[in-house]
Amino acid sequence: MDIQGRVAVITGGASGIGLASARALAGAGARLVLGDVEEAALGRAVDELAHEGASVVGEVLDVAREEDLVALRETALRHFGGAHLVMANAGVGGGPVIGTPTPVWDWVMGVNVDGVVNALGAFLPLLLDQDEGHVVATASLAGLGGVPGMGPYVASKFAVVGIMESLFYELALRGSRVGASVLCPGFVRTRIHESTRNLPRDLAGYLDDPAVRAAGELAARAVQAGIDPSEVAALVLDAVRHERFWILTHERAATRTTEQRLEWMRGGPAPRINLDGATRP
Ligand SMILES: NC(=O)c1ccc[n+]([C@@H]2O[C@H](COP(=O)([O-])OP(=O)(O)OC[C@H]3O[C@@H](n4cnc5c(N)ncnc54)[C@H](O)[C@@H]3O)[C@@H](O)[C@H]2O)c1
Repeated sequence: MDIQGRVAVITGGASGIGLASARALAGAGARLVLGDVEEAALGRAVDELAHEGASVVGEVLDVAREEDLVALRETALRHFGGAHLVMANAGVGGGPVIGTPTPVWDWVMGVNVDGVVNALGAFLPLLLDQDEGHVVATASLAGLGGVPGMGPYVASKFAVVGIMESLFYELALRGSRVGASVLCPGFVRTRIHESTRNLPRDLAGYLDDPAVRAAGELAARAVQAGIDPSEVAALVLDAVRHERFWILTHERAATRTTEQRLEWMRGGPAPRINLDGATRP
């Protein structure tokens, strides 16, 4: 897809991978519609991008709410007359399988899975009608293999990979010119390890659990050792331009994880989890 002049809609656009992708897309001539739950960060992102010369509008939303994504589509249509590239990217982390209460699972699945489903529901009919566009959903290496201490997150990212693979086949069966990609990053230097900043207030007690704190500290170290979000953004643009489904920022770790799981399924040993391996590309 040619990016010049197209309208790119990005959820979780106020920070990290979403913001870096917005900047790269604007650099390639796209107009931007950013959605995020953090009003202040979104305001700063919109100001920065506008200052750099981008045509950009921001909307505060919660991706877990279907009506918020419908409103985002209406904003794109009102401001720019269309939408072409949709990046369902907003995401939050969780804790371990053992001991994580159901409302925290619901929060993670709501943002990470319903957020993607709601973006697809709001924008796919438009893209299919115009028979032009591309959808990118942000999953993770955690969508390709289990990781201790990240149960709800892993579950949500497996779901995103599954949704996008299924969508890929559905688009192909229809002969549609709409493209689909799934982004599976390893660790990237963003604020993802601080994502409980957006945890609903009534669930805050969960953060006192020592197992949650320990898993969070491990993830924080790996995130800080990760790659720069601009490197991820460059791969996103390349995948959109060349209609590539898999966007693997840490290709070695992604293929190794998948090969080791296959060996495990065939009766070999369980893979040894080493978070360091997911920090380097
Ligand atoms: N950073 C990593 O190491 C890494 C690795 C793999 C996958 N990812 C995925 O990348 C995506 C982007 O995360 P990031 O790393 O840039 O982290 P980030 O925390 O810097 O950015 C995430 C953005 O999503 C927004 N957000 C959170 N909940 C929301 C909601 N309910 N509605 C709307 N916006 C919401 C946040 O306010 C934030 O601006 C996520 O889906 C994350 O799971 C990140």
